[in-house]
Amino acid sequence: MATSSAPTQYAVNDRSEEKPPVAELRTVSKSFGDVVAAHNIDLSIAPGEFLSFLGPSGCGKTTALRMLAGFETPTSGDVLIGGQVVNALEPYRRPVNMVFQSYALFPHLNVTENISYGLRQRRPRPGRREIADKVDRALEIVRLSGFGKRRIWEMSGGQQQRVALARAIVNEPKLLLLDEPLAALDRKLRKEMQIELQDLQRQLGITFILVTHDQEEALSLSDRICVMRAGEIVQVGSPLNLYDHPNSRYVADFVGTSNFFDGRVELVSDGRASLMTDNGHRLKGRLGAGIGAGEPGCLSIRPEQIRIGRTAGEDSLDVVVQNRIFLGEHTEYLVRHETLGNIIVLAPRQSENEGRGFQTGDPAFLDWSDEAALLLKPD
Ligand SMILES: Nc1ncnc2c1ncn2[C@@H]1O[C@H](COP(=O)(O)OP(=O)(O)O)[C@@H](O)[C@H]1O
Ligand SMILES: [Mg+2]
Repeated sequence: MATSSAPTQYAVNDRSEEKPPVAELRTVSKSFGDVVAAHNIDLSIAPGEFLSFLGPSGCGKTTALRMLAGFETPTSGDVLIGGQVVNALEPYRRPVNMVFQSYALFPHLNVTENISYGLRQRRPRPGRREIADKVDRALEIVRLSGFGKRRIWEMSGGQQQRVALARAIVNEPKLLLLDEPLAALDRKLRKEMQIELQDLQRQLGITFILVTHDQEEALSLSDRICVMRAGEIVQVGSPLNLYDHPNSRYVADFVGTSNFFDGRVELVSDGRASLMTDNGHRLKGRLGAGIGAGEPGCLSIRPEQIRIGRTAGEDSLDVVVQNRIFLGEHTEYLVRHETLGNIIVLAPRQSENEGRGFQTGDPAFLDWSDEAALLLKPD
């Protein structure tokens, strides 16, 4: 894949048969003093799904997860697990396990002791044999068979990550909560672990909720993504749905890459509209959710939806190429329009003029279909 802006694969589970939710947040809010970490969150999590909370640091992702796990109590609203309100139920009584951002492994215990910790706390306590079998199986699943006697500090970052995962799955939770579990890993290892996480989820059939601020990670792993901002859910949908039908500039910007033009919406009819930009350009597009004529708007056009050519069409934008980046299958151009400013264009290789493409300083023309440009609520 040549670019982060255009996901090619989506994990899609067949949900033709609706089952009761594993967990629900019903109008849940959480305040810490003056800070509202979660505000009126409504969310229903289906069994077996891979859901991600996506948003910038401080938007309330960890808080939402901690309320599901039982480490925080909501200020108002209800947390339900398996149809029961569990607002004040202790974490260890919930069929939920959490993998913490920092792993939170016990440094003085070896790998096996770390993984078996939860099982050994259970009352009645399972037998030695049963504990050993479960730990072996968990080690096998995270591909650490034979590492049981190792000390935590003898393990690499990626291995510690796997121990943390094994410690969570050994309890066979209905719901596995993962708080930025891959953030501490380098890029290559993170990629590998992403694939492993997805395999693991499919293999175990456990519901996963992943917290991440990495859109690529959310797009490639999730059945559904819950986009958050300042304690609120902005939009929930499949990766494809969010990418094609963002409900705001915020979502279009956070999920994928886009070009944005600010202005005022005009001439609305039949879902079609145009935007009069602040600097006096009329750009046509399709009307997004919750926006109407006369209102401030923002036109969003994805780089891969823009055609770059040497001849002008009826509504073409007249630009000059500033920079080109060869990305294999695609070429990314940064072009400049006199009044609209910089625009990013992603051109597939076969559409490039005689394979030569455009060079820095070349004049060019940009076009897109009305259908591809989305008029959104500005931030
Ligand atoms: N225990 C706490 N006490 C005070 N403020 C907190 C506490 N936990 C979280 N917050 C605040 O709540 C907001 C959301 O935090 P958090 O859920 O950790 O966000 P995220 O995981 O998206 O980075 C932040 O402003 C954070 O400072
Ligand atoms: Mg967090």
